[in-house]
Amino acid sequence: MDNTKIHTEIIAIGNQKGGVGKTSNTLHLAAALGELGKKTLVIDLDGNCGATRGLGLGTDWLGTFEALLGDQEPEDLIVRTDPVEGTDLPKNVDLLPARRNLEQFEDEYRRRNKFAEPSSTLGPVLGKLKGKYDFIFLDTAPNASAPTVASYRSADWFILSTEASKLSVDGLTDALTDIQAVREAGNAGLRLLGVIMCKVDTRTRIASNYTERIRRDFAAAGEMGAFETYITRATAIELAQEEGKTVFQTEPAHKVAEQYRALAREVLARLQSVRSSEAVAEVEIKPHGEMMEAADA
Ligand SMILES: Nc1ncnc2c1ncn2[C@@H]1O[C@H](COP(=O)(O)OP(=O)(O)OP(=O)(O)O)[C@@H](O)[C@H]1O
Ligand SMILES: [Mg+2]
Repeated sequence: MDNTKIHTEIIAIGNQKGGVGKTSNTLHLAAALGELGKKTLVIDLDGNCGATRGLGLGTDWLGTFEALLGDQEPEDLIVRTDPVEGTDLPKNVDLLPARRNLEQFEDEYRRRNKFAEPSSTLGPVLGKLKGKYDFIFLDTAPNASAPTVASYRSADWFILSTEASKLSVDGLTDALTDIQAVREAGNAGLRLLGVIMCKVDTRTRIASNYTERIRRDFAAAGEMGAFETYITRATAIELAQEEGKTVFQTEPAHKVAEQYRALAREVLARLQSVRSSEAVAEVEIKPHGEMMEAADA
């Protein structure tokens, strides 16, 4: 068995607005990264079980509810592609599924732990899975339920999912406020990796105008803005979803699969650029640290 630990990037995909492509983006980005050889785990943290259903699983798999309550080891709850079990996930993608009972998680947790905080439960679960995957994606719900709050509080990165409409783009200001609030509430290291615009009707000026506006507004707030690649509205996504699959499994040559491949490359490039500027900053800090040591001696 290969015990080499890999660096795991933990990315929450969210927006408090419903139906804006969070789950579709999570699954397709995971599949695109999987295709590039990155081992990826999707954790379904939505009581509506969008990611679980989107990958063709029924509603009776044990998963996040049991993991968050500490009733079972997360590793034992992970679903992988397995012809015997009848599970068929995208290449290099595993899933920690959810059932509807996730909606009762907070009540159950408080019943068992009167004085503890339910959102503190995801950190230890992630701690056990870190080093086994290149990416862990947290698919969140459009509400402030405990598993969603836990995701925001435990992630390294946040990707905002939005539609290219005035209402949705206007709502991103609230999303930025939420991210800032999460930082103040304890996850000071949470960084916005970018904004995915999806369900774009055509490659008209409207989408690029919104991309430009998001870039400008977010840069003013000191944040990374919209990814260059946007995802067009495609029936292929809905058809794949009906089959419980991603487009990477049903129509891998479709234009929308190509868009997700381009998006995955952008995600990797952004991560690499942030990580290498951090490495440079570390080298710059070192001589000062060494000087301090010399002074202490
Ligand atoms: N690029 C696309 N083209 C066409 N339909 C899409 C596209 N992306 C997502 N959809 C459809 O839009 C609907 C909402 O998408 P999705 O479930 O990914 O959003 P969500 O933000 O996760 O929703 P919720 O807030 O309910 O969890 C789904 O029916 C999905 O099939
Ligand atoms: Mg969803």
